[in-house]
Amino acid sequence: MFTEILAIDAKKPDSSLIDRAADVIKQGGLVAFPTETVYGLGANAFDGTATKAIYEAKGRPSDNPLIVHIADKKMLNDICASVPEDAVKLANAFWPGPLTLIVQKSERIPAAITGGRETVAVRMPSHPIARMLIERSQTAIAAPSANRSGRPSPSRFSHVYEDLNRRIDMIIDGGDVPLGLESTIVDVSDATPKILRLGFLTKRHISETLNKPVIGPKTKMDDKTDTAPKAPGMKYQHYAPKAKLSIVFGKEDFFIQTVKNRLIMAKRSETKAAVIGSEEQKEIFCNVPFYSLGSRNHPEEIAHNLYDILHQLDADGIEEAYTESFYDLDIGDAIMDRLERAAAFRIIRQE
Ligand code: TXA
Ligand code: MG
Repeated sequence: MFTEILAIDAKKPDSSLIDRAADVIKQGGLVAFPTETVYGLGANAFDGTATKAIYEAKGRPSDNPLIVHIADKKMLNDICASVPEDAVKLANAFWPGPLTLIVQKSERIPAAITGGRETVAVRMPSHPIARMLIERSQTAIAAPSANRSGRPSPSRFSHVYEDLNRRIDMIIDGGDVPLGLESTIVDVSDATPKILRLGFLTKRHISETLNKPVIGPKTKMDDKTDTAPKAPGMKYQHYAPKAKLSIVFGKEDFFIQTVKNRLIMAKRSETKAAVIGSEEQKEIFCNVPFYSLGSRNHPEEIAHNLYDILHQLDADGIEEAYTESFYDLDIGDAIMDRLERAAAFRIIRQE
């Protein structure tokens, strides 16, 4: 399949170009487009054949449901059976933005995109290209992240191109995404709100807005007793680079010493090893491949660079990598959730 590439200025999207992409959506095609979180792979949410093609292009298991993207709160009426009060509060506070709500689905939503569930995920993105694309397509757009299933989510055009070129109709190149972490998912389909996935919006943002306690998510590795629910997609190993990644969790001295020892062992066995860490650690690892995520003083920078660095490990043929942990940062739980998955839960911790 030929994939058309369309470069569009994210700050001032050209509506005639967006109309070309909207035509593809209207005709039942697949378009990858930037959102403020990560790139999405979109199709008309009400077209069962088009949404099925998303699963084929991604190699995604059919029981893993998709997020429906809207441009206007009025579109909610086509998507959910009723709009719960918690949904209204959260939507008023955070839409457009990096928040996905799980609500009871309307009859119009094809079962194919909910994995047979009675609930549906819905989000109103803030990215100008995403918004204009939804408006001009005159429909809600179902879109998972625009990566092959099991690969890291795409935060730049090149990531989408590597995974999906020749598999979909069109890719909009709108440059790097602003945030780089997928949306926070909150299930408001019954009386007890539950966080299913963390993103830029933290548990505190959600519980303060709703003015009541919220359940979940399970993120910290020492939190073994927590039986909080998760998004179905979270059961799959996710976000994985080809390198064998391990998280080193402990005090700074422990991190440095452990990584140095592992690098010596890797050298002996002629394994191409690398370190992932904050800008603050760069000097210490000056004579080994070091991937800086950014400064600890700017957690949003670390989140933004995370997926790009996982992609770079692959491009550089790294076989083994060790990363610093960031549980202590403001959005550290969301960052570490992705890193834990990328590391397939391999964690080297201080005794
Ligand atoms: O930021 C984002 O959320 C990006 C952009 C493109 O909007 N999308 C994204 O989609 O990350 P995806 O498909 O990679 O992740 C969606 C997650 C999956 O883990 C899926 O299982 C969960 O949302 N999900 C979707 N519908 C659900 C439902 N009805 N109940 C529970 N979880 C659901
Ligand atoms: Mg995904």
